[in-house]
Amino acid sequence: MKAAVVGAGLMGTEIALVFALAGHDVLLTDLSEEALDRAMARLGSLIEKGISRQAYAANTAREALTLIRPTTKIVELADRDLVTEAVFESLDAKAGVLKALDDLCAPHCILASNTSTLPISTLAASLRPGRRPLFLGTHYFSPVSRMQLVEIIPGFATDRATVEQVAAWLEGVGKQPVEIKDVAGFAVNRMLHALLIEAVRLVEEGVATPADLDTACRLGLGHPIGPFAMMDVVTSDLCLQVQDILHDAYGERFRPPALLKQRVAAGLGGGKGRPGWTRNG
Ligand SMILES: NC(=O)c1ccc[n+]([C@@H]2O[C@H](COP(=O)([O-])OP(=O)(O)OC[C@H]3O[C@@H](n4cnc5c(N)ncnc54)[C@H](O)[C@@H]3O)[C@@H](O)[C@H]2O)c1
Repeated sequence: MKAAVVGAGLMGTEIALVFALAGHDVLLTDLSEEALDRAMARLGSLIEKGISRQAYAANTAREALTLIRPTTKIVELADRDLVTEAVFESLDAKAGVLKALDDLCAPHCILASNTSTLPISTLAASLRPGRRPLFLGTHYFSPVSRMQLVEIIPGFATDRATVEQVAAWLEGVGKQPVEIKDVAGFAVNRMLHALLIEAVRLVEEGVATPADLDTACRLGLGHPIGPFAMMDVVTSDLCLQVQDILHDAYGERFRPPALLKQRVAAGLGGGKGRPGWTRNG
C-alpha cells in the first residue's frame, strides 16, 4: 500500500512514521523544505529516544525513516492508495488541500482527514461526488506513535468498503480503530471534555487543588495523566476552543468554565515555556 500524509506538523509527521514502521512507502508533504527538514529531524530524535524501546527494533525504526520521502510537490501523490490530510484545523485550508488531492489522486485513492472538530460531511462537500464514497475521517491521538486508538468517522456518502479497507490498514499498522458517527467532537473529545470541564469546576468551587485532582485521577481512576497536567500539554487555549464548539453543538453541559476562560485570557494556558495549571512556566 502506498501512503501519503499532507501536513508535516505534530500529527502528520508521526502518522507518516506509523505507516513507515509497518513497511509502507510514505510520501510526506508540507509547504516548505524547512517544515519537512524539521519533521524528519523530529522523527530521527523520536526514534533514538523512544520508539526503538517499544514494539520495534532500533534498526527497523531507522530503516522505516528511509521509507518516508519528504516532498513539497503535492503532484507526486498521484500514485497513492491512501492520503491522510493533517494540515491546520481550518475549513478553508483543509477544503483547499482536499480539492487539490481530489483533482490529482488516482480514482481508487482513499482520502482521510485527521480533523478533530470539523464535520466530515462538511469537508466531503469540497470533493467531487465521485470521490465522496472514498473519503472519511481518521482521528489519531497525540503522540501518534504511542497512542493506539484511531476514531474512524464515515461521512454521509462514505462507502462501507472504504471504512473496512481503512480499518484493515490501521490494524495492519498496529492501531486500534473504532467507528464513530460524524457528530461534533466525535466520541473521545466528548468524554474527555466532560471530565476536563468538571475538573475545572471542582477547582472553581474550592473542592480540591489541581495537583490533588490530578493525583485522584491517576491513582483513583488509573489514568496515566491527570486532567490538569493534560491541559498543560495540549494547552488550555486549545481546550477552550474545543469546548466552545461542543457548547455550540450540545448546549449547557459543555459550557466552558469561567476560570478556564480567565486563565487563557491571562496567558496561563500552558504549552511550551508558558505557565499552566501545574507549573509556573
Ligand atoms: N495536536 C493534536 O493533539 C491533534 C490531535 C488530533 C487531531 N489533530 C488535528 O490534526 C491536524 C494537524 O494538527 P497538528 O497539531 O499536527 O498541526 P501543526 O500546526 O503541528 O501542523 C500542520 C502542518 O500543516 C502544514 N500545512 C498547512 N497548510 C498546508 C498545505 N496546504 N499543504 C501542506 N501542508 C500544509 C503546516 O505547514 C504545518 O506543518 C489538525 O486538523 C488538528 O485538529 C491534532
